Amino acid sequence: MVGDGRQWVCSQATGDVLEVAIGTGRNLPFYPEDIRLTGIDFSPAMLELARRQADQLGRKVDLRLGDAQALELPDASFDTVVCTLSLCAIPDERRAVAEMKRVLRPGGRLLLLDHVAGAPRWFRAIQWVLELVTRPATGEHWLRRPLLQVKAEGLDVERRERSKLGMVERLAARKPPEDGGGPSAAVP
Ligand SMILES: C[S@@+](CC[C@H](N)C(=O)[O-])C[C@H]1O[C@@H](n2cnc3c(N)ncnc32)[C@H](O)[C@@H]1O
Repeated sequence: MVGDGRQWVCSQATGDVLEVAIGTGRNLPFYPEDIRLTGIDFSPAMLELARRQADQLGRKVDLRLGDAQALELPDASFDTVVCTLSLCAIPDERRAVAEMKRVLRPGGRLLLLDHVAGAPRWFRAIQWVLELVTRPATGEHWLRRPLLQVKAEGLDVERRERSKLGMVERLAARKPPEDGGGPSAAVP
């Protein structure tokens, strides 16, 4: 579904990188060699699989149990924050994006890849029906618009690409250099 989305996202990561909701570590093969990677997920089972994947690749990753909605990480501590195919699943995606911004250094970059509300109305109608089933069953949302959260947080969107009737979105946004970090004003 996401084509070369993982490569697109990971190839832009630099410096100290946080991957939020790292899952089984499917992005690990696509990161540049010279980054320092921290990964969080709230599922110990996922983290165990990510650990195995990292070991197989010979990749050093600081894997931690954590909630994307309340990151136990200091303000302004990462150059890049990555989140792929998870804002559709995190219960409060608004708070998660606010947390991603908080831990980014001023001038740092947020890289997102997800399935979002599609462009044509008829397609969103299908997604709406699908969501009736998936939300209660698995917590999966199909009509989210991460772009709106990113803009609400005051990040500058540098690149945004959509495909598959607008359903697959990847975006790169930068925290303004003058933003000192700290808790977001956008989330009460
Ligand atoms: C569909 S998987 C995607 C995993 C990975 N990012 C990828 O691209 O393959 C969604 C992940 O989000 C994690 N997750 C959901 N809610 C979370 C939360 N509140 N905090 C941290 N991780 C969360 C799940 O445990 C799962 O690993």
